[in-house]
Amino acid sequence: MDNYAVFGNPIEHSLSPTIHTQFSAQTGCDISYAKILAEKNSFTESVLDFISSGGKGFNITVPFKIEAFKLANHLTINAKTAGAVNTIKIQDGELYGENTDGKGLVNDLCNNLGLSLEGKDILILGAGGATQGILLPLLEKKPVRILVANRTKSKAEKLAIDFAKHGKVCGFGMDQIKAKPVDIIINATSASLSGDVPAILPGVAEEAFCYDLMYGRKTPFMDWAEQSGASDVSDGLGMLVEQAAEAYYFWRGVMPKTDDVLSSLRETID
Ligand code: ATR
Repeated sequence: MDNYAVFGNPIEHSLSPTIHTQFSAQTGCDISYAKILAEKNSFTESVLDFISSGGKGFNITVPFKIEAFKLANHLTINAKTAGAVNTIKIQDGELYGENTDGKGLVNDLCNNLGLSLEGKDILILGAGGATQGILLPLLEKKPVRILVANRTKSKAEKLAIDFAKHGKVCGFGMDQIKAKPVDIIINATSASLSGDVPAILPGVAEEAFCYDLMYGRKTPFMDWAEQSGASDVSDGLGMLVEQAAEAYYFWRGVMPKTDDVLSSLRETID
């Protein structure tokens, strides 16, 4: 049996073991997948314990994605541009770091939700780690441009500069976004965690597809988007499952199917 795990703090809520257990049954692989609560100052120690006990790979969630980035011996292009790692594969004692969040989002948008991103105007709310992790895979789908709007304007401007070589990215303060509609809005702020909605004018969401990276049947952002005339709304549960599928592929070279896993999870969350 091959052992995998997810490290985080807190970790109790993680759905990753449920997802990967279903992937392994579906692909006929004998794996175990554990949740490991790492203390805030002993992530590396926990990881080294896991590796010496024969671990083959692991996922990393809040707040350790940047530490995982520093710990990896090799990084994929997605991990490098994201500046964070959510998946590590252990091979011949070396740690290979990948970031599957952005690919997971793109797969959910394009394959599960049936959107095309080519030629679209995309607005991302927030300019933190989550936004940095999704920008490259989104740009690879050739949108006409991506606007990044953030409460702290300078962070959005910096991301726009950092990603300029990959496509057209413009950085703004949240209060500079006019009520001019865009095609797709992605909420990558952590505002939903405190029940808040980023302060933007509702007109921007009119007829837009609005996607929250957070999951839950109805996040505050999804409510706001519906009331603002969005064409459709989605939470990020599909992204969660898709990023896990990409991690599974990174570890084992087999791409699991996600539709049944997503619908069974959908039934278990509020
Ligand atoms: P993550 O890794 O989840 O992106 P982060 O790097 O701490 O977390 O970034 C959180 C993002 O959510 C930031 O863009 C933050 O805006 P600031 O840079 O101005 O702090 C944004 N954010 C958090 N709460 C928010 C709120 N209530 N309204 C608008 N933006 C919010």
